[in-house]
Amino acid sequence: MLCASVRTVRRLSLLCVLSLTVATPNVLAQDQRNATGEYGVVVSRSVEASNVGAAILEQGGNAVDAAIATGFALAVTYPSAGNIGGGGFMLVHPSDGRDPAFVDYREKAPLASTEDMYIDGGSRKNHRWVGVPGTVAGFVLAHEQFGTLPWEDLVMPSVRLAEDGFVLKSLAQGLNRAVERSENDEFKRVYGKGGGTQLWQASDRLVLSDLGSTLRRIARWGNDGFYVGETADLLVTEMVRGDGYITQNDLSSYAAFIREPIRTTFRGNEIFSAPPPSSGGIALTIMLGILENFDLKSKGRWSPETMHLIIESMRRAYADRARYLGDSDFVEIPVHLTTKGYARELAASIDPRHATMSEKLGPRLTEVEESQETTHYSVIDRTGMAVSNTYTLEQGYGSGVVVTGAGFLLNNEMGDFNRNPGVTNRQGSIGTSANLIVAEKRMLSSMTPTIAVRDGKVVMVTGSPGGRTIINTVLNVTLNILEFEMSLRDAVDAPRLNMQWFPDRVGFQGFDDPVFSDLVKQLTVMGHRVTSGGGGDANSILVKDGLFIGAADNQNGGASAARR
Ligand code: GLY
Repeated sequence: MLCASVRTVRRLSLLCVLSLTVATPNVLAQDQRNATGEYGVVVSRSVEASNVGAAILEQGGNAVDAAIATGFALAVTYPSAGNIGGGGFMLVHPSDGRDPAFVDYREKAPLASTEDMYIDGGSRKNHRWVGVPGTVAGFVLAHEQFGTLPWEDLVMPSVRLAEDGFVLKSLAQGLNRAVERSENDEFKRVYGKGGGTQLWQASDRLVLSDLGSTLRRIARWGNDGFYVGETADLLVTEMVRGDGYITQNDLSSYAAFIREPIRTTFRGNEIFSAPPPSSGGIALTIMLGILENFDLKSKGRWSPETMHLIIESMRRAYADRARYLGDSDFVEIPVHLTTKGYARELAASIDPRHATMSEKLGPRLTEVEESQETTHYSVIDRTGMAVSNTYTLEQGYGSGVVVTGAGFLLNNEMGDFNRNPGVTNRQGSIGTSANLIVAEKRMLSSMTPTIAVRDGKVVMVTGSPGGRTIINTVLNVTLNILEFEMSLRDAVDAPRLNMQWFPDRVGFQGFDDPVFSDLVKQLTVMGHRVTSGGGGDANSILVKDGLFIGAADNQNGGASAARR
C-alpha cells in the first residue's frame, strides 16, 4: 500500500519531466530542476550558477573547472550560503585513472583563538564568530591540481553576473527578511533595495558591484587577489571595525589541503566521502556498514523493519560522531570506526523489535546546532570526471557581516566548535574535547560530499546542506539509489528520516500522506519517538546507460546539461 502510493508520486514526477523535455541532439531532457545529457551535467541551488558551470563544460572545461565556476557564481546568486567568505569541501573523482582527491578548504580558527573565547555565548551575527575563509584557496588548489581552462575564465562569468546583475525571483523574499533582521549597515546597503528602505520584488535585478570588483581581483591574481592586497586590507579593516579576530597573518597563513577521501564499499559500489575535519564520511561509512548486514530491499523501503534498522544505524553513528570526531590534525581518530568488523558489531547490537534508548549508548556528549544554511552542488563532465562540492557560511548569510567595500559576506563558522570546555549538560552546554577550539584548528563539520563508483566509473554524485541532518540526507539518497534502485528524481523526492542520537527522536520529512500513519504507529510501538523534521537540498547526479541525469532538490534549484 505504501509502495503503491510512492509509486504514484513517482509516475507523476516522471510524466512531468517528460512533458518538459526539450529535444536537442545532446541535451535529452531539461526543465529547471531536471537535466539529462551526454556531455555533462551541473546541479546546484541556483539555475544561473548551474548554467555558468554547464557553459564551462561546453567550452571544453572539465568537471573541476565547472565546479569552480559554479562555486563563484553561487557566491553571487545564492548569497545565504554560496560564498567566497566561507569554506567547504570538494571531492573530485578523476576519469583518467588518478586517485580520487578531497580538497579541504574548511575555515580555521584565527591565531588569537582560545578554548574559552565564547564561554559567554551571545549573538553569532557579528565579526567575532568569523573563521579564516578558505573558499578561494580551495578553488585555487583544485584548479592547480585538476583544472584545464585558464583560471580567469572560471571567475569572469561571476564578475559579469555580479556587475550586470541578475533577476532575483524567489531570492527577493529571503533577502527582504534578511535585510529586515540585519543590524549590519553594509549588509543593508549592499543587499537591501534602496539600502533597505524598500522591498525587493521577484522581477527586480540585484547588482553587486563591490563583489564584482573583488571577483575581478581574484580572477586576475588568484589567492593574491583575496589573501593579500586590497581585498585582504578591506577584510582586516572590517575586523578592526567590528572587534573581530582575523589579522593579515591569519589570511597569509591560510592553506587548503588535499586529503585522502574516506573510502568504503556498499553492495559492490565504492563509496568516497568526506574525511575529518568533517564527520560526514566516517558517520556515513558506519551507517552503510551496519545496513549492509541486512537485506533491506526484500523488507521494502517503507516497511517498519527497514525504517527501524536505518534509525538504529543513524543512532549508533551519531553517538560515535559525538564521542570521537574533530580535526584529525589535532585529535586522534580511532581507526576501527570505518572497519566492516566494527559495523558488524554495531549491527549485532540492534534489537530487531525495539528502539535502543540513546542513553544506553553513553551519556549525552554534544549538541552543537549546525545551521541548515549550507549548499551542495554536483558536477560531471563528458569523460565521467565528477565533483561533489559542499560549502557554507554556517548560518544563513553567515555572520551577516559584509566586508565594507569588498561586497562579500563573512561566515560565522566558529560556532561549529564545542564552546564550553569540560562542561557538558542537558541545558546545551558542550565541553567534549575532540572539537574544542585551538588556534588554527578546523571546526568539525557534517558536510558529506559523496561519490559512488562501480567498476571504476562514477554512478552517483550527491551531498546536501542541513547541519547535522546532512549525513542522514546523504544516507537516505544513497540507499534510495544503491539499495532500492529508485530513479534519481524519486530518490531525491522521497520522504526522509533523520535521527541524531540526541535528541532521542526521529524526524520525518515528507511522511504527511495518510498511507504512512500505520508506519508511524508501528515505529512508535517499537519505542521510537517520531516527530516532523529533517531538511536537505540534495542536488544529485546519477549515471545510467551512459547518460548523465541531474536532479535539483529544492523547487528553486537548477540542473543544467552541457550541450556539446
Ligand atoms: N556549518 C555546517 C557544517 O559545516 O556542517
